[in-house]
Amino acid sequence: MINTGLEGRGVVVTGAASGIGRAAALKFAQEGAKVLVADLDRAGIEETVEEIGAAGGTAVAVVGDLSDQQVVDEVVERAVDAFGRVDVLVNNAGIMDRMSALGETGDSEWERVIRINLTAPFLLTRAVLPHMLAAGRGSIVFTASEAALRGSTAGAAYTASKHGIVGLVKNLAVMYRGQGIRANAVAPGPTTTSMRVDADREAHGPTIAGQLSAATMGRMGSAEEQADAIVYLASDAASFVNGAILPVDDGWAAV
Ligand SMILES: NC(=O)c1ccc[n+]([C@@H]2O[C@H](COP(=O)([O-])OP(=O)(O)OC[C@H]3O[C@@H](n4cnc5c(N)ncnc54)[C@H](O)[C@@H]3O)[C@@H](O)[C@H]2O)c1
Repeated sequence: MINTGLEGRGVVVTGAASGIGRAAALKFAQEGAKVLVADLDRAGIEETVEEIGAAGGTAVAVVGDLSDQQVVDEVVERAVDAFGRVDVLVNNAGIMDRMSALGETGDSEWERVIRINLTAPFLLTRAVLPHMLAAGRGSIVFTASEAALRGSTAGAAYTASKHGIVGLVKNLAVMYRGQGIRANAVAPGPTTTSMRVDADREAHGPTIAGQLSAATMGRMGSAEEQADAIVYLASDAASFVNGAILPVDDGWAAV
C-alpha cells in the first residue's frame, strides 16, 4: 500500500469543473486532503464540490478566469483561510488551440492559448510559492501534454504553451529543490474529457495526421488514469521525484 501522506493536506486544483481536474480533485479528497477547486465554469465546479461532499470530503470553490491576477490572488487567499496552508498546487486548467500551423495562427489565438495554458500557471505558482517556502514544503504538479514532448500533436500555440510548461517545471525543480518544493508534470495522451479540437486535424499534411492516428496514439485514456498519476506526483510517494515529465499515454511518446 502506497502512503500518499495527503491526509489533512491543503490542495488547490485548477480546471476542476470537468475532466482530469475534477477526477484529480475527487481522488485528493478520497486521500483525506482538503481541496480548493477553481474553474471558469460555475455549474461544473458546483457539481465537483457536491461530489466531493457526497463522498465525505471537504472542498471549497473559486469561480473565475485563472489568467486574471485578481482571481489568482483570491484562490490563494481562500485556500490559506480555509486550510491554513497550500501543500499541493495542481495547475491543470487548459484549452486546446485550433491546430493552426504558425503561419495561420492569429494574435488572438496565440495570446489566448499562451495566457491560459502558460501564464495562468505561472501566476498561480508565483502566488503560492511564498506559502510553500514559509512551510518548507510543497508539491506542484502541472498538466502538460503529449504536445509538450513532440511537435506534431497540436497547433503552434498549444505546442509552445505545453513546451513552456516543461521549462517551468524544470526551472522550478532546480531553483527550489533545496527548499522542500518539488515540481513535476504529467503529459497526457488522448484522454476522454470535454476538451474538443475545433479544427480539421488533417489540415496540416501527413505528419500531423499520421501522428494522430490510432496506430501511434494507442487507446484513449480516462480522466481517472491521468488523475492517479497527478495524485502520485503530488504525494509523499514521489518524494524523490522532481523535475519529471511523466507521459501517461499508453506508450505514445515511446513510438
Ligand atoms: N483531454 C486530453 O486528451 C488532453 C491531452 C493532453 C493534455 N490535456 C490537458 O489536460 C488539462 C485538462 O483538460 P481536460 O482534458 O480535463 O479538459 P476539460 O475541458 O474537461 O477541462 C479543462 C477545464 O479547464 C477550465 N478552464 C479553461 N480555461 C480556464 C480559465 N481561463 N480559468 C479557469 N478555468 C479554465 C475549463 O472550464 C474546464 O473545466 C488541460 O491542461 C489540457 O491541455 C488534455
